[in-house]
Amino acid sequence: MFEQSTPAVESQLLDIRRAFDSVAANYDGPRGNNLLVQRMRRMTWDTVRDEFPPGSRLLDLGCGTGLDAVEFARRGYRVTAIDWSPRMVERTRALAAQVTTHPRVDVRHVGIHQLDRIEGEFDGIYSNMGPLNCVPDLGAAVAECARLLRPGGRLVFSVIGRVCPWEIGHYVLRGRFRRAAVRAARGVTPVGMNRHTIWTRYYLPREFYRAFAEHFSLCGYRALGLFMPPPYLLDYYRRHRRWCDWLGRLDDRLGGLPLLRSMGDHFLIVMSARSRP
Ligand SMILES: C[S@@+](CC[C@H](N)C(=O)[O-])C[C@H]1O[C@@H](n2cnc3c(N)ncnc32)[C@H](O)[C@@H]1O
Repeated sequence: MFEQSTPAVESQLLDIRRAFDSVAANYDGPRGNNLLVQRMRRMTWDTVRDEFPPGSRLLDLGCGTGLDAVEFARRGYRVTAIDWSPRMVERTRALAAQVTTHPRVDVRHVGIHQLDRIEGEFDGIYSNMGPLNCVPDLGAAVAECARLLRPGGRLVFSVIGRVCPWEIGHYVLRGRFRRAAVRAARGVTPVGMNRHTIWTRYYLPREFYRAFAEHFSLCGYRALGLFMPPPYLLDYYRRHRRWCDWLGRLDDRLGGLPLLRSMGDHFLIVMSARSRP
C-alpha cells in the first residue's frame, strides 16, 4: 500500500472491500439488466473504441464483475483487470473463463491504491462507474497511472459526480434532506450499501482533473445520466419509459455542453499523458 496509509484509511479500505464482496454474487442480477446502467456503460464502451485501436493494451481499474474487461477482450484488446474485492475478482475470472478470447483477460486482485504492484506499459487505462471515487489518495493513483501509461496514452474514466439534479429532487421530495446533500460533502463521506459502508469522494469534473493536471492534459468530459434518472430509479424508468427514452436522447445531444457536462449521476472524462521530461 502507499506509504501514507494510516490505520483509519486501511479500515475504510476494508469496509469498501467488505461492501463490494457482499454484493458481488448478485451484482449482475437486477443491476446487470439495468437499462440505465447499460446506457452509461455503452457510452464508455464507445469512447474506449474511439480512443484505442483493437490490439491496444488496456488496464481496467476496479473491474467489478468484468463486463467491460471481457467485452474489450472480445473486441481484440489486451486487458489487465484489477479490483480490490476478492469476490469481484472471482466473478471477473469466471466470466473471462466463459469466453475464448486470445489473449485472455489478465485478472489481478490488486487495489488502485496498490498500482505500484503492476508492471508494464499500457496504451490506455479505463475505469467505469466509480471505482476512483473509492480511492483514498487520488494523487498517488495519478502518479502510478502516469508511470504505467506510454507517452501519449489516454485515460477514460467514468466517475460519480457531485451534482446530480435527479438525486437531489428525488430525496428532497421525500423529505430526506441529508441524503439529498450527501454528494455535497467535502472529502470522504460514508455511503451505505447492503448494510456496509463505502467511503466515497464525490467530484466535479474540473475538481477531479486538478489531481491529474501535472501529468495529463484534459481532452474532454461529458455528463452521464443527467436528464435520464440514475440507475437506482429503474422502477421510475420502467413506468415512464417513453418519456425517459426521450430524456436519454437529450443526454446524448446535450450532455457534452458547457455547464451541463459538469452535472449528472456520473461524468465521463478523457485525459492524455503529457510527454515525460
Ligand atoms: C460501482 S463498482 C463498478 C465496477 C465495474 N467497473 C463496472 O463498471 O461495473 C466499483 C468497483 O470498484 C471496486 N473498488 C472499490 N475501491 C477500489 C480500490 N481501492 N481499488 C480497486 N478497486 C476498487 C469495487 O470492488 C467494485 O468492484
